[in-house]
Amino acid sequence: MALREIVKDGDPLLRKKSHPVEKFDGKLHALLDDMLQTMRASDGVGIAAPQVGILRRAVICELEVPDKEEGEILELINPVITEKSGEQVGAEGCLSVPGKRCDVRRPMRVAVTFFDRFGKEHHRVFEGFNAVVASHEIDHLFGILFYDKAVKTDQ
Ligand code: CO
Repeated sequence: MALREIVKDGDPLLRKKSHPVEKFDGKLHALLDDMLQTMRASDGVGIAAPQVGILRRAVICELEVPDKEEGEILELINPVITEKSGEQVGAEGCLSVPGKRCDVRRPMRVAVTFFDRFGKEHHRVFEGFNAVVASHEIDHLFGILFYDKAVKTDQ
């Protein structure tokens, strides 16, 4: 595993659309391993492949697990939000936009179809904080940054 450099806001790469992952091979696994290490090193709870300069539809989310301090690390490849419901507003930040936090409006609940690193299809429903993380990371795959959806900017 290796740390990768995080692409920062202002780099046009962050505004591009990512392409689907087609090969669930060693190269993808190495990318995901590096993304996790990079996310951990920066104390993030989510990271998307374009944030390390790779325009592929792959994200990692650290999900809250009830009654546990340690989150669940979940890799979502080619994720598609199939359902959204409810609404919540909360403060967000992003590893690519250091120092900036804003209140963002998100769905309370999202249903997502995605693939794991081995190409197996899964379907999960995320609620509350986990819905925020999943939505934020999936937005990166469309070149959307959290402050685009800000309802109020603190800094
Ligand atoms: Co982000």
